Amino acid sequence: MKPDDFQLLSGLLKERSGLVLTSDKAYLLESRLLPLARKQELNGLDDLVRALRTTKEERPISVVTEAMTTKEPLFFRDSSPFDQMRKAMLPALVKARAQTKRLRIWSAACSTGQEPYSLAMVLKEEANTIAGYRVDMVGTDLSNEVLEKAKAGLYSQFEVQRGLPIAMLAKYFAKVGDMWQIKTDLRGMVQLRPHNRCRTSRCSASSKSSSAVTC
Ligand SMILES: C[S@@+](CC[C@H](N)C(=O)[O-])C[C@H]1O[C@@H](n2cnc3c(N)ncnc32)[C@H](O)[C@@H]1O
Repeated sequence: MKPDDFQLLSGLLKERSGLVLTSDKAYLLESRLLPLARKQELNGLDDLVRALRTTKEERPISVVTEAMTTKEPLFFRDSSPFDQMRKAMLPALVKARAQTKRLRIWSAACSTGQEPYSLAMVLKEEANTIAGYRVDMVGTDLSNEVLEKAKAGLYSQFEVQRGLPIAMLAKYFAKVGDMWQIKTDLRGMVQLRPHNRCRTSRCSASSKSSSAVTC
């Protein structure tokens, strides 16, 4: 990839998502954007970058940003943040919010929903701890495509095998054909909507950083 093209694409990614792409990761741009260029019947990355340089429309830019951001969500990713949520954060928040009896949880780059739904499962399991409290959960992401999947709450066998304890699968999912769908009450606990977290806060986001925020 030409240095100028790399600069344009990495600059766009930084500006739009807060993610920093170093030059040793230029291959990531090629592997993610080449399929997109082909889909749009463009002649490789050169043409795609040329189109980006000249466009006055928002859509081509957001399509490229979405293709460049990592989308590999897991249920109960790294497990320890969810253990901490259950053992330390929820009891502390319940104590701190004893007056208002209100908790708010924001999964700020929720992708296809695994993170907010994992948190919703934790809340279900900890129903006694939060009894009498109103809990609002929001999941946001800059990609509408992933949000549509999150709203449907439909996951393949492969997706539910990664990180989700089998007991949780049996309790909170229903089999729909060869897919698994989050049951309606759990889906109803999470509001999903588009939001770019770099548009409202100082951002040094990393695609691997945990995105859940509580207050
Ligand atoms: C690896 S996923 C993280 C999923 C989830 N938090 C987890 O740990 O399973 C990264 C997601 O972050 C989203 N994303 C990247 N930059 C963003 C930004 N500035 N604002 C909102 N979402 C962003 C991407 O669209 C992608 O869906």
